[in-house]
Amino acid sequence: MLIHLVAAARPNFMKIAPLYHALKKEQWANPVIVHTGQHYDVNMSDAFFRDLALPEPQIHLGVGSGSHAEQTGKVMIAYEKILTESRPDLVVVVGDVNSTMACTVAATKIVYPKNSDKRQGTSDKNPEGFQLSAVSCGLGHRPLVAHLEAGLRSFDRTMPEEINRLVTDALADMLWTPSPDGDENLLKEGVPAERIQRVGNIMIDSLEMLRGSIERERTYRELDLAPGKYAVVTLHRPSNVDHGESLNRLSQLLAGISHKIPIAFPVHPRTRKNLERFGLLPILSNCNGLRLLEPLNYVRFMNLVFHSRLAITDSGGIQEETSYLGIPCLTLRENTERPITITQGTNRLCGVQDLEEKTAAILSSPASKPKKIDLWDGQTAERIVAILRNLNDRKKGLSHAEAQSTQREVRQD
Ligand code: UD1
Repeated sequence: MLIHLVAAARPNFMKIAPLYHALKKEQWANPVIVHTGQHYDVNMSDAFFRDLALPEPQIHLGVGSGSHAEQTGKVMIAYEKILTESRPDLVVVVGDVNSTMACTVAATKIVYPKNSDKRQGTSDKNPEGFQLSAVSCGLGHRPLVAHLEAGLRSFDRTMPEEINRLVTDALADMLWTPSPDGDENLLKEGVPAERIQRVGNIMIDSLEMLRGSIERERTYRELDLAPGKYAVVTLHRPSNVDHGESLNRLSQLLAGISHKIPIAFPVHPRTRKNLERFGLLPILSNCNGLRLLEPLNYVRFMNLVFHSRLAITDSGGIQEETSYLGIPCLTLRENTERPITITQGTNRLCGVQDLEEKTAAILSSPASKPKKIDLWDGQTAERIVAILRNLNDRKKGLSHAEAQSTQREVRQD
């Protein structure tokens, strides 16, 4: 089974890595990484491939940055060509970035030429060379599409990610959810139950896969930070960083908080560009208690999170990681597509106006404990492999039955 694992941006690499490694061990599977190039800086992309022991992507679309339509369109055009040449049996898309939606649209609309089995560019390990096309599902001659991290909803359509989630989930054939709220959202939208499979949270697989390296790393010490006595900050959402006024307010608040607890702040390229554009960088860089850093690779960043007292963020993944680790998290957003991190984890939504007060409340409370959330257990990739193995076996059985029935028909003629 030729399987494309599509990755585009920083949070995607952690989601494909455990699945790539698990599929690599299977005789019947041929996983191929497709990097769309949405993130391209060394410390936003290559560094993650190194940490996660991923090979160079076999397919690189090199689309780079652009407006939403530009970026989405470039990915669709480039990926359509790849689909025609390499004809995967299955395309796995992850998360909610523009490339997730773009590859889903391209893959669900492609029509492979009939009666032509020649694939270019990649070799298929499957000795029978079958194509697990969607024919058997009555969808036409194209790959199946699976969405990993399906069903999450912020119910806020001003977020580009929410549009990406809605489109991807409406089109994908298999919807792999991390938590019950994902299933419920999809069912309410009319998705047939048989398309939904709750597989768990793949980010926890990456964390557990690299726990040893994360614990051996000494990022916090290199920054002269004491364990349990500093905060980690990350910001990159357009709603927080694209407007001068809100970014200024946030910068002033963080500068104030750094007098109470030291802050380590790895700065996303979008945020750095805007801090420079609005002339706000000095507010942060002139602050003794605040360490502005370049984006960190996965292991170094997670080492910083592991030993932090609290996280202040607008990232989706950090809400999950801190819940799992039992570290308080203030999410600078009005909503979250990951409500389970609030109901069962350590996450709290936080308006900018409440940041100082909520930070002070956390600092005066006892430290929290790691939270146990169902299927956030480091076994998500294995559950997906089991689903795909089953699919592969069923398809093989089907091809065998079809071949026998054709032989019978030929004999009768
Ligand atoms: C994207 C995703 C967001 C995800 C985030 C993780 C969408 C709509 N957004 O946001 O959901 O949470 O990735 O980081 O898909 N840039 C660089 N170097 C890079 C990449 C980007 O300098 O390697 C700069 C460029 O100026 C670019 C800007 O960052 O225009 C934004 O990049 P983009 O991929 O459009 O969105 P993100 O904010 O990274």
